[in-house]
Amino acid sequence: MPLFQELENIRAAFLDELKKKPALSDLETLKVKLLGRKGRLNDVFKNIRLVADDNKKQFGHAINELKQEIHDKIEAELSEHSYNSQSSKSKIDLTLPEITIPKGSIHPLSQTLDEIVSIFHRLGFDVTEGPEVETEWNNFDALNIAKDHPARDMQDTFFLKNGHVLRTHTSPTQIRLMQSEKPPIRSIMPGRVYRNESINSRSYCLFHQVEGLYIDENVTFSELKATLDLFFREYYGSDVKVRFRPSYFPFTEPSSEVDVSCNLCGGKGCRVCKYTGWLETLGCGMVDPKVFQSVDYDAEKYTGYAFGMGIERMTMLKYGINDLRLFYENDHRFLEQF
Ligand code: PHE
Repeated sequence: MPLFQELENIRAAFLDELKKKPALSDLETLKVKLLGRKGRLNDVFKNIRLVADDNKKQFGHAINELKQEIHDKIEAELSEHSYNSQSSKSKIDLTLPEITIPKGSIHPLSQTLDEIVSIFHRLGFDVTEGPEVETEWNNFDALNIAKDHPARDMQDTFFLKNGHVLRTHTSPTQIRLMQSEKPPIRSIMPGRVYRNESINSRSYCLFHQVEGLYIDENVTFSELKATLDLFFREYYGSDVKVRFRPSYFPFTEPSSEVDVSCNLCGGKGCRVCKYTGWLETLGCGMVDPKVFQSVDYDAEKYTGYAFGMGIERMTMLKYGINDLRLFYENDHRFLEQF
């Protein structure tokens, strides 16, 4: 049966080739020559009509078996090649367990700041940053806090040997912005601030604030109210209640503090809101004309509002965190929860 013999010959020739340890490219050529559409085995298959009917099925089988065998042997040889080329270079041990890379997360204070920035961004505010080492003039005088003003005692300041201070709030960035730009101004100013306070669960030597400033002609207190109202509804959810309480800051007149209904107890009263149902969040007011004077703005022409809030405080209130120090200790068990 010459055709069956033919298959045997192909097989023997193939095995001979393999013994010669062909190069990668020769293996590819061999594969095409034998198994390709116009390859040897398909040629032989065309002769199936010459096989006696009784043997046709068996012949077809024999061809398929040989195809499979050649295919498997070539594949095995090919993967041997790629394994050798890898291991000769780097000796990779594919059986080693993988190294797990610990997953990081964004610090809760950064998350809060990102959220605040994005809400105000949608309202048309851009972002301005200022230095942490400030002149006394920017930090106090230009903001209408005179040398002997009792308000200076409100903020326990770190004084530096060169006469500058570590800024006690982000408000000096307002001064820098107004000195470098003319109205309209609509910006928020995030950053780190410092106060010489004893360290405990409610105070620390540093914390973070975001300042907001909007100056143009005819800016009104009702715009300030509407803007902050919208901000708090975006930040705490649409159910939150917002209340403005009269207050005092040297750089705003009138001034106000803003409380929101406690989002942890829904206003019913709990430990975090000290059973009042309200949380104090930020200070704000209309920019005092004295501040406009110190940056040479025309106080007859322009009005504006400013507000400042603590980022730690906003984060603590949102999640019911009761110790400020947790933000700076970088304990994974705390950070992983955000
Ligand atoms: N700078 C004030 C503080 O640190 C906050 C504030 C900013 C109040 C702007 C009113 C206007 O307490």
